[in-house]
Amino acid sequence: MTSLVDGFGRAIRYLRLSVTDRCDFRCVYCMAEQMTFLPRARVLTLEEMATLCRAFVELGVEKIRLTGGEPLVRRGIGGLVHEIGALPGLRDFAMTTNGAGLVKHARALRAGGLTRLNISLDTLDPGRFRALTRTGELARVLDGIRTARDAGFEGIKLNAVILKGRNDDEVLDLVAFARAEKVDISFIEEMPLGQVTGHDRAETFCSSDAVRATIETRHALVPTTESTLGPSRYFRMLDSASRIGFISPHSHNFCDACNRVRVTAEGRLLLCLGNEHSLDLRGLMRHHPSDRERLKAAIVAAMTRKPERHHFTTDGEVQVVRFMNMTGG
Ligand code: GTP
Ligand code: 5AD
Ligand code: SF4
Repeated sequence: MTSLVDGFGRAIRYLRLSVTDRCDFRCVYCMAEQMTFLPRARVLTLEEMATLCRAFVELGVEKIRLTGGEPLVRRGIGGLVHEIGALPGLRDFAMTTNGAGLVKHARALRAGGLTRLNISLDTLDPGRFRALTRTGELARVLDGIRTARDAGFEGIKLNAVILKGRNDDEVLDLVAFARAEKVDISFIEEMPLGQVTGHDRAETFCSSDAVRATIETRHALVPTTESTLGPSRYFRMLDSASRIGFISPHSHNFCDACNRVRVTAEGRLLLCLGNEHSLDLRGLMRHHPSDRERLKAAIVAAMTRKPERHHFTTDGEVQVVRFMNMTGG
């Protein structure tokens, strides 16, 4: 079987597919207040997305994560999950969501074959939650987390982007919440994607080392070599099953172990989150609708253009103009 290897010898086994650029939230680190979303004709159909996932799995991809925008606002998402969940060879099938749609969707997602969920949760204060997401309601997300927990997923992880002066005083509360709910939690350093508004990234940057030091005032953290094939470095506490992860694109660069590529909602194969190198898979599929071999050959060839690493800095300069909701992170 042909497999995917890039020019630096890295095997690509993880596909992140953004199923929509739309979202019902407007998180300050992700979007501007006023956003223009893609017109429908430019977005891949669900059939095109399923075709792509099949091609990637046939090329050795073992893990697929559906992202957005917010994946649960895409109409028909349940059917797509069922199709991808049935692909032979897929070992890990996950979604990253803001959690607002989970009361409605969690059980069907699990029944459709989704194995893991990552749910964004930056604060436990309803007013702050509204300020950070601009439109979100905390109680609904907390209900969603609990519905998901009861639906029997193999793993649930909370994602918290920590911002100085906005939620860095909640790190221990977030850890306590994860422990009480028996889920994992990852703390994320903010990345400079998209010209966000009303939020100064240079002022709010908070390093994983600072977050870790705060946690260690209360809990001993034991490093592990456990991996979810993603960028998190995991630690365990002595008295809890919950793991603590750190995603540190600035302070602990993980690009040398990169194993992933992304496909945007408009079918752009994006070879690195922090660069613009890409290939238009939508055009290819629409010109040659049933030529799966051509599609797979184009994907294999594109790997040689994957950049070695991103070059993010923390000075507040936008390094990639594309907003985060185009790729789901
Ligand atoms: P797991 O499968 O649970 O390991 O998930 P994950 O961490 O791979 O995915 P998730 O969607 O939860 O992403 C968490 C954070 O990691 C987001 O802020 C992503 O933008 C970031 N992230 C994931 N992959 C990359 C990457 O290749 N480069 C960079 N810079 N950030 C990434
Ligand atoms: N930097 C880091 N993480 C981000 N996310 C969204 N925007 C950014 C950013 N600029 C996170 C979300 C979600 C995950 C997919 O990416 O909080 O958990
Ligand atoms: Fe939506 Fe996620 Fe971006 Fe927040 S981070 S606006 S929930 S896509």
